[in-house]
Amino acid sequence: MAKLKAGVLISGRGSNLLALLQACDAPDFPAEIALVVSNRAEAGGLAQAERLGVPTRVIAHGDFADREDFDRAVSAALEAAGVELVCLAGFMRIFSPWFPAYWANRILNIHPSLLPAFRGLHAPQQAIDAGVRVSGATVHLVTETLDGGPVVAQAAVPVHQDDTADMLAARILLAEHELYPLVLRWFAEGRVHLLRAPGKPDRVRIDGVAADAALLWRP
Ligand code: GRF
Repeated sequence: MAKLKAGVLISGRGSNLLALLQACDAPDFPAEIALVVSNRAEAGGLAQAERLGVPTRVIAHGDFADREDFDRAVSAALEAAGVELVCLAGFMRIFSPWFPAYWANRILNIHPSLLPAFRGLHAPQQAIDAGVRVSGATVHLVTETLDGGPVVAQAAVPVHQDDTADMLAARILLAEHELYPLVLRWFAEGRVHLLRAPGKPDRVRIDGVAADAALLWRP
């Protein structure tokens, strides 16, 4: 069966990208990374992709007059590579409304909190400041609202009393590296479905697997 072609957008070190690349390296994994795009030439993740022979492109946001021009250039590169699903992995640019509308229900992001708690930057620090005992990682569909689209999957980790933001972020990151490849697999297997009900926010249903069982606790 043909593999789902994913495109990954990064801005930095790319540890989630590496987790996705490693998962896709397994012959029986149902998705492949067709293109990695970075808005920064110095993003560490680019070298990791190149090492594994995955095509990369740098599209520098500074080269474009406005946000939508940049978004359209990224989108054109993804489409030229045959990308069917976009995975944001530490991509630090806010889209114009055009991009998530164009890729609606075909774009994922990973965020280091249990959304809808702690949207935006510095989520591990936000969790510590709020005094919560549990945090984690969320993979969600991307909409126009920052970190606001329907949740696809979550993994929870404890917040220890003496945690620094870096310690918590590192614990969450380990969960991210398991969660994102799992969701990519579910997507490629056609298990991810959007549920729509009038007057309510969209929700996601995962078919055929227990979407929560393995992910609830990562001490
Ligand atoms: C991760 O913590 C992810 O949740 C957030 O950005 C960070 C990216 O890290 N969106 P990396 O570049 O994948 O290592």
